[in-house]
Formats: sequence, structure tokens, C-alpha cells
Amino acid sequence: MPIKFKSYLQAKAGYKGGKSKPTVPDGKKIYKLSSNENMLGSSPKAIAAIQAQLSNLSEYPDHNDERFRLALQEFYGGLLRANQFITTNSGVANIELILRGFLEEGTECIFSNPAFGPYRGFPKKMGATSIDVPLIGDTFQLDVNGILNAVNKKTRLVFVTNPNNPTGTHLPKAHIDALVNGLPDHVVLIYDEVYYQYVQARDYVRALPYVLAGKNVIGINSFSKAYGLAGLRVGYSYSTPRIAEYLQQLRIPFMIDSLSMTGAIAALKDTEFIQQTVQLIHKEKAYLYAAFDQMGVKYWKTQANFILIKPLIDSKEFEALALEEGIMVRPADNFGAPGCVRVTIGTRAANDAFINAWKKILSAG
Ligand SMILES: Cc1ncc(COP(=O)(O)O)c(C=O)c1O
Repeated sequence: MPIKFKSYLQAKAGYKGGKSKPTVPDGKKIYKLSSNENMLGSSPKAIAAIQAQLSNLSEYPDHNDERFRLALQEFYGGLLRANQFITTNSGVANIELILRGFLEEGTECIFSNPAFGPYRGFPKKMGATSIDVPLIGDTFQLDVNGILNAVNKKTRLVFVTNPNNPTGTHLPKAHIDALVNGLPDHVVLIYDEVYYQYVQARDYVRALPYVLAGKNVIGINSFSKAYGLAGLRVGYSYSTPRIAEYLQQLRIPFMIDSLSMTGAIAALKDTEFIQQTVQLIHKEKAYLYAAFDQMGVKYWKTQANFILIKPLIDSKEFEALALEEGIMVRPADNFGAPGCVRVTIGTRAANDAFINAWKKILSAG
């Protein structure tokens, strides 16, 4: 008898992340503005804690994540209890764990293009179907009625990313309220807020108030962005005790390695580093807006640490030409934003290098 492969795992549903630096030509200064990393590096508190932990690598890490969940409880000022967190080795692993918990063959989930790749691709790995209810208008707003109309008995999850990747735009509280209140009880809202630290919009809302109100909402977070720990691979989510305790069963023992857990717990206390990071992003995004306006570049105002732009040439060609100038950017076509490119907001030196590269590409074209 032949091996029984799952039919839905035959199709490619993987998420291909951004290119790493070593894959680009050697010998020149490269600014990696393609993966929304922290241009200031990593939380110094996390690095110090990791260094102190290095001599202990012969020992297994904590068997479970209780220490981490207690640190998160403290970070949330006791508003959320330790049993409301699900910690994983990365934000994407958290998304995958949640999908494993709720999806199976014949079920459906709803996402809104342009969207972060895993929300479109990962459900297929569980045999589920992803329904796209695209964001609407040039401001990429949520089609709340479209989503509510697309919900049926098979729907298990709805995905919302706020601020959104790759657009950088945010969804106002009023729309999230309407969505949360309109969803039937059998549907869980996955609310991705991994860029929340950067938000300036006053009508922004996190997942927290909905979770506190007992709604079926899960807030997704990552240490890869503002904490500058993308290489560690740590993420967490929070929800109602009922949902979180259900999902915690899917964690494996020793899931988060000792360096990562120690680093993440220390990072939670590094408010100074978060402040510096956020200040840099706010200052530099204003600097980039001014330069873009002067050059007549089409871009979208952002609430995150990256900007979506629309070059006049093909996005892949722009990516290649920018790389020749030492700048890595990310074409957003695969995220559902055809012809657009996503660029991380960097330090002044990186942003100037990007502006100069753009001018060079423009003048050559
Ligand atoms: C919207 C969004 N969610 C989740 C993640 C996951 O981040 P990580 O897996 O690095 O924790 C990312 C990373 O780019 C993201 O942009």
C-alpha cells in the first residue's frame, strides 16, 4: 500500500520570509530594510541576560513556560493572568499553533488582502480554506460587512492585523468594535498587533480590551520587532483563560530554549530601549515622508516601522536596482499589494542611503 500523504499538504502553502543578508553580494555596505527589523539592534537588557545564561547551556531549559507567563502577567500589570498567555518560539509559530488548535479539513477562515503571508497560506496546511475579503479603498480599510457576510457555519477564525503588514495602515477602533460585536460565538478573532508599539493614531485599539471583556479574541505579539530580537524567535499571544488554556495543550515540553526565554523576560523590562526605538521610528518616518513628498513618491502613511511605497517601475526590478545600491527592500506583490515595495524605517544613515538609491533609480529610468 502506498504511503498516505495528506492531500492538502501536497500544495505549497509555506511562508517564504525575507532574504537574509549573506545571500547578497559580499564586500559592500548593505542596509537591510526588507524585514522590519530594529535598526538599533537588540534590547541591551536582553543581551546582558543572554550572556549571563551562556554558561548554562548544558542544562535543559525550563520544562514549561510558567516563568515567562508570570513575567508577562507582570508586564500587563496583572490585568491578564499567567494562564491567559500562550508563548512560542516566534510569532509565526504562535499563529501556526492557533491554527492547529482550531482548523481542520472542511473548515474556513477569513483574511483580508493585502495581508501577512501566513494568514493566507498556513490554513491550507490544516486542510482549511482561506477566504479573502480584501481591505477596501486606498486607505486599506476593513470590509466589516463583507467579513460578517462571509462567515458561515464552517468559519472558525477571522484574521485582522493592526497595524497591517505590508500596508502599515491601521484599522480604527470603531471598525474593530463592529467586527467583534458582529461575529457569532463560534468564530475566534485572531488580532495581530506585533507592531503596536509604533502606533500614533488615537483611534487605535489593541486586542486587550476585547480579551478583558471576555470576547473570543486572541492578541498576537512578537519579540522580533520593537525588542529587536528577531534572531531569537520568541512570540506570545493572549486570550480568555478558556481559549488560552485550550491552546496551551499544543505546546511541547522545553519549547522555548533557555537563551530565548531569558532574553525575552529581560526585554520585557527594557522600557528605555523601546522608547528609544519608537522615538527613532517617529522621527525618521517624518524625515522619509518629507523626502518622498519632495520626490513625488507614492506612499502610504504608516503606523508601523515600515512604509509601503509604489515605485514607477516593476517592484522586482526596483528590488534588484536598490540592491545594486546596497539597499534591501521587499516587493509586496506576494502580500497582495501588486507593484508595491515595503521598506523598513532605518537609522538616518540607512534612510539617506535609501533616498539616494531611489533618486539614482529615478534618474536612470
Ligand atoms: C504581521 C506580522 N505578524 C507576525 C509576524 C511574526 O514575527 P516573528 O515570527 O518573527 O515573531 C510578523 C513578522 O514579520 C508580522 O509582520
